[in-house]
Amino acid sequence: MLPMTGADPFARIRAATDAHRARHGCSAYRYDNGPLLAVLARAANARRILELGTALGYTALSFASGAPDATVDTVERDAEHVRLARDNIAAAGMDHRITVHEGEFAAVLPALDPGYDVAFFDGGAPTPGLHKALRGLLRTGGTLITANLSHGGTADAVRKALFEGKSWRSALLDADGETAISVKL
Ligand SMILES: C[S@@+](CC[C@H](N)C(=O)[O-])C[C@H]1O[C@@H](n2cnc3c(N)ncnc32)[C@H](O)[C@@H]1O
Repeated sequence: MLPMTGADPFARIRAATDAHRARHGCSAYRYDNGPLLAVLARAANARRILELGTALGYTALSFASGAPDATVDTVERDAEHVRLARDNIAAAGMDHRITVHEGEFAAVLPALDPGYDVAFFDGGAPTPGLHKALRGLLRTGGTLITANLSHGGTADAVRKALFEGKSWRSALLDADGETAISVKL
């Protein structure tokens, strides 16, 4: 029988993120499925990718490996995470394509150029304000992946905008309703 999942080239960083979180007591909960993000980036033929929530670089590296012509901008406020992510990205030979921006999402986003092909929100519960800023940075027809949608509170308003309005075409990526994939209409 074929295995259900392929190998994850960044399994070591995924495991290091779990170990770091246990020591640091922080919110570096790595995304479950880096290979899925890699394939989505490739399917979108992404040239520019934006990520909110770097942690140790697991998903930024997954995106970059899936879309070999893409650059990735990823944003992180925790100085220790930024240092570890930059080390991991350099060790993987991806530092010419991945930029880790240190700072609060709300402070960094206004300095970025619009026109991203893919954006990924993985920085705690999504909020309507950040969601609106991400929409402004994404090109029409671009792909937004929103994690942590089942966190309640502000996440409920974001879920409503993604699924009930006319600005996005959305589907859930997992059975527990945690992550949505959406196309900007
Ligand atoms: C769930 S982790 C990201 C996991 C990463 N995408 C992965 O799968 O390996 C969320 C990260 O976002 C960062 N973060 C949370 N809120 C933030 C904010 N307002 N501005 C900048 N970084 C933030 C946290 O420090 C944490 O490292």
